[in-house]
Amino acid sequence: MAHSVSRTPLWCLLQQRATHMPSLKDLFKADPQRFNHFSASACGILLDYSKQRMDTTAKLNLLALARQQQVEQRRDAMLRGEAVNHTENRAVLHTVLRLPKEESFMLNGQNIAADVHAVLTQMREFANAVREGRWLGYTGKPIRTIVNIGIGGSDLGPQMACIALAPWSQKNLSLHFVSNVDGRHVADALANADPETTLFVVASKTFTTMETLTNAKTAREWMLAHGCPTDQIRQHFVALSTNVKAAEAFGIAAENVFPFWNWAGGRYSMWSAIGLSIALYIGPDRFEEMLAGAHEMDLHFAHAPLEQNLPVLMALIGVWNINFLGLQALSIAPYHQRMTRLPAYLQQLEMESNGKSVTREGQRVDYSTSAILFGEAGTNGQHAYFQLLHQGATIIPTDFIVVADDDAGLASHNQALLANCFAQSKAMAWGKTLEEVRQELGDQPDHVLAHRVFEGNRPTSTLMLDALTPRSLGALIALYEHKVFVQSVIWDINAFDQWGVELGKSLAQQLISLDPAAVREPEDSSTRGLLQAVARSQKL
Ligand code: F6P
Repeated sequence: MAHSVSRTPLWCLLQQRATHMPSLKDLFKADPQRFNHFSASACGILLDYSKQRMDTTAKLNLLALARQQQVEQRRDAMLRGEAVNHTENRAVLHTVLRLPKEESFMLNGQNIAADVHAVLTQMREFANAVREGRWLGYTGKPIRTIVNIGIGGSDLGPQMACIALAPWSQKNLSLHFVSNVDGRHVADALANADPETTLFVVASKTFTTMETLTNAKTAREWMLAHGCPTDQIRQHFVALSTNVKAAEAFGIAAENVFPFWNWAGGRYSMWSAIGLSIALYIGPDRFEEMLAGAHEMDLHFAHAPLEQNLPVLMALIGVWNINFLGLQALSIAPYHQRMTRLPAYLQQLEMESNGKSVTREGQRVDYSTSAILFGEAGTNGQHAYFQLLHQGATIIPTDFIVVADDDAGLASHNQALLANCFAQSKAMAWGKTLEEVRQELGDQPDHVLAHRVFEGNRPTSTLMLDALTPRSLGALIALYEHKVFVQSVIWDINAFDQWGVELGKSLAQQLISLDPAAVREPEDSSTRGLLQAVARSQKL
């Protein structure tokens, strides 16, 4: 492997450094200003990474690694519109989706920023018509229920954002997300909907995704079965897609298709027409504030020195933990009930982007790539999986995301929430020694006390937002997007394709009859056995 990053002297230096890394206790003792030296802020977000097991030498070497891997040059190439998604020969320009109106961006001789703003205007007009009750269903009633039908990037972003920004929602509009091909999902949404006042937003970049087309077809049949005339279906269905022709072929009126472009990846698409459900729910002004927050982070990413660059620092922390300290997972713990879908959103963002095992040149990597992400809103997570974070034999770093303000107006709750968040990272860092346990519990045998010992020395970062607003959410999500990109540059992988989901899709097509004879490989007795069991159980 001629050019593998893992064979470079810097990588070896970092490996050596990691084996001699002092404990968090010692790192803090050695530097009373550690918080100041290991924190940074931008766009209203404070990143405290002082509780990461990293010293100044490691940090400097990681920054040197970023330079060696040409993070700045590769960032600039992406932002310029080069086809950095080389396996699909596509530019990666979700940053253009959030450019202010007065700016232009030329791609292949076309001002794509103007195209973006034309669609934003189309979204604005439509969202206002629905929100103001001017868009009427087939019996002349205004829309009251919106059902977003989409999956992956066409579901997780809008869903995560709408839940997070619910305080800005219009109270007479309810919103549901249907993603799963499991019929229970669409059935549950339809059970509570009124066909006369329901709008289906069919979100699919490709407009070929089996789950979305199946759900959209069921929704259309439901409308027709409830008396909606065929020529009025147009009042109840809009599409968000790069494949305008397929949306029209599905039966969605041309003027009800909100287009976007191949240079916006699925998991980076909530800033595009895919964000229509967000604009409908919280209003186009708030949606554009979210875009502005993301744009602010784009500028920071593009211009801040690497030492102060939040996405770069977060990427390097991840690389350090994964590749040098051997910590493969990352728990995402937002201490904000409305950020409950953030872990799921980041799972797709990070794991679909960087869950790769060959370099850009197609060589098998000999190092780990994406972290394994999971998480839950705090304080709920504390009573579920945090036991393992505190005392498990596997060490898992955590990103705590905390919001200072109390928009619920319940000061005692907010105090308890913040105190819990800070207590968790404190406990993970310092732990509790056998001696401390002995002092608390008195002189008991060590094997009894051992259960109460916390090793500590477990790395965490804390991201603090002043308030959760459309703007700060935009900045936070853009921060993670760019973090993922920087990691992909260091690992020399393509963060923007997702061939890994294809094999399962095509095998599902082969098995769609559920006939055991559809299993082509004679040795696959497992799949055949499962299909036979289904056949038996369905006969009962
Ligand atoms: O899971 C693969 C994937 O292509 C994602 O990248 C994408 O977000 C999702 O499917 C949905 O795709 P589409 O928006 O084209 O329906």
